[in-house]
Amino acid sequence: MAFFSSSTRQVPEAAAVPKHVAVIMDGNGRWAKKRFLPRVAGHVKGVELVREMVRACLERGVQYLTLFAFSSENWRRPQEEVTLLMQLFVKALEQEVEKLDRNGVRLRVIGDLGRFEPRLQELIRQAEAKTAGNTRLDLTIAANYGGRWDIIQATNRMLAAQPEKREAWLESDLEPHLSMNFAPEPDLFIRTGGEERISNFLLWQLAYTELYFTPTLWPDFDTAEFDKAIASFQQRERRFGRTSEQLVEKTNA
Ligand code: IPE
Ligand code: IPE
Ligand code: MG
Repeated sequence: MAFFSSSTRQVPEAAAVPKHVAVIMDGNGRWAKKRFLPRVAGHVKGVELVREMVRACLERGVQYLTLFAFSSENWRRPQEEVTLLMQLFVKALEQEVEKLDRNGVRLRVIGDLGRFEPRLQELIRQAEAKTAGNTRLDLTIAANYGGRWDIIQATNRMLAAQPEKREAWLESDLEPHLSMNFAPEPDLFIRTGGEERISNFLLWQLAYTELYFTPTLWPDFDTAEFDKAIASFQQRERRFGRTSEQLVEKTNA
């Protein structure tokens, strides 16, 4: 399995476009409420924006797009909303996978999928298999995902495979077992909807990611908004613990 070394150990080449973008798509409910619509109308609109985001990533050459669609804590929502979200997920898989495949997108779903109904699990399995050979964009949907769950499941798997690690293990022993083991760490994290928190998303992988928070609600987060986030990212100096001067030396070397 392809495994990338931690981006916190090497300074990535200054790239105009972030290689990996991770997004918490928040604000669907408030978007609907402002329009006196049921919350689910916001989620329906939100799916449209996912489509637009995928297109934008393909056009801009982003290689990995990771979207938080349903957290392990979202089961706490009213039963009706959870059911509607699951139905939307099924519908999106039924309707979008063909097109994703035609566009060279590889789809993966990460999270504790065992809690989903069998039909949804089967659709996920089929979508992943169908798109497994695609290389233009890696689209990952985090569903029933939690960053703490991920670290614990990875630890359990590592210890099952290599019990001798119990005594002392390194980051590099754990990383191949994390859900995102196929991708470099996110360069840019975006959270829409105004909250400035991680909400148990990719806890391990966001250690050195550039964070971008915007009050724009997810259903309003169009390509122009995405370009603003990229422009902000391009202004940042990623030091990974080094000094500014060291980075200048590296660039001039
Ligand atoms: C994000 O929008 C979508 C999911 C969590 C599924 P919200 O539903 O959290 O929208 P707000 O935060 O209530 O506006
Ligand atoms: C985070 O949004 C999860 C997703 C967008 C899927 P929430 O709306 O659930 O997060 P909190 O509850 O405001 O932290
Ligand atoms: Mg929310």
